[in-house]
Amino acid sequence: MFVPEGVVTNERLSRMMDTSDEWIRQRTGIVERRYARFGESSSKLGAEAARRALDDAEIAAEDLDLVVFATMTPDHYFPGNGGLLARELGLSSTPALDIRMQCAGFLSGLQVADAFIRSGSARRVLLVGAECHASLFQWNREDWEVLFGERDGEPSAEAVAWGTMHRDRAVIFGDGAGAFVLEANESGDGRGFLGFIMHTDGAQWDKLYVPGGGSASFPYFTPEMYEDQRTVPVVEGRQVFRLATTALPQIVREILDRHALALDELSLLLMHQANLRINEAVQKQLGLPDERVYNNIQRYGNTTAATLPLVFHEAKAEGRVRPGALVGFAALGAGLHWGAALLRV
Ligand code: ACO
Repeated sequence: MFVPEGVVTNERLSRMMDTSDEWIRQRTGIVERRYARFGESSSKLGAEAARRALDDAEIAAEDLDLVVFATMTPDHYFPGNGGLLARELGLSSTPALDIRMQCAGFLSGLQVADAFIRSGSARRVLLVGAECHASLFQWNREDWEVLFGERDGEPSAEAVAWGTMHRDRAVIFGDGAGAFVLEANESGDGRGFLGFIMHTDGAQWDKLYVPGGGSASFPYFTPEMYEDQRTVPVVEGRQVFRLATTALPQIVREILDRHALALDELSLLLMHQANLRINEAVQKQLGLPDERVYNNIQRYGNTTAATLPLVFHEAKAEGRVRPGALVGFAALGAGLHWGAALLRV
């Protein structure tokens, strides 16, 4: 995993908008998050995570058969981040695929990587999830410096007004990147991904989306869109909360049933980190004790496609992912996409 250096606590954020540490902690569980700085795009964050994952796996970039990049905050409208990442890694002909399934992006990427490997189309796949949500903020450089404590004085009135207007969303996202290297396991020891289930309900597309900027608007971008805040994500927070607390317990039960496994056999459940209250509600519905879930939203906020590798990496580093363990992954995100996976470690 790789996260930007810039730690932003709730107190610091409260200088930039009308919010409070108490509100953010109570409603979301978030204590701090990281924000990328100018020049730290999602492909750059992703490249750093990718280098670390390749080092950890002791695999050279040249040995990869496929690169997959999941993000909802790509460097450019096109081309996608996959090719940019491959270039950063010094690759000039390895195929690179882009996934844009938001908070379910990494999960979908895992399924794609798994399918490529099982079909024999690839032996080694690098999967990266990375986000630079800070780029969605309409703050100028001076205001960012005030936020990071690098400039004395108060933020501009415009920055505070903008932050307050979007405070329900501004406080929940954070930036970061994570990567997995996946490889065929032909040993027959039963280790690896056991299976995936993904679902999409496109009728719910407008519960979480960016209204302006795209071919649904002619032209795809206008100065008015920026002025009217149509380039900022729209979130029907309460509805997403309700959808997540209904769909996530169901999908976990569904995938366990499909593999004839019982909830008792699940060693650890790693969920997307959109809101700690969502994950607590799912945990309660499934009756899982605290030692069988792991959350890190407190330190990073919602990092969208980067969340699952971040949570897996930290759980592993803390000794919570032991050999032989059955680890479940579950995520739901804009689209609306949701799904689950099972991994035998
Ligand atoms: N600070 C202080 N007050 C706030 C803030 C804030 N940051 N944000 C909203 N409020 C106020 C509102 O103005 C409102 O005040 P009012 O009652 O006086 O009108 C009150 O708090 C309630 O506002 P809601 O927007 O209804 O707040 P809610 O309790 O629903 O929390 C949240 C918002 C955190 C987004 C929650 O709905 C949520 O977690 N939803 C699910 C996750 C989600 O949507 N994530 C989007 C990311 S994409 C993804 O992960 C798939």
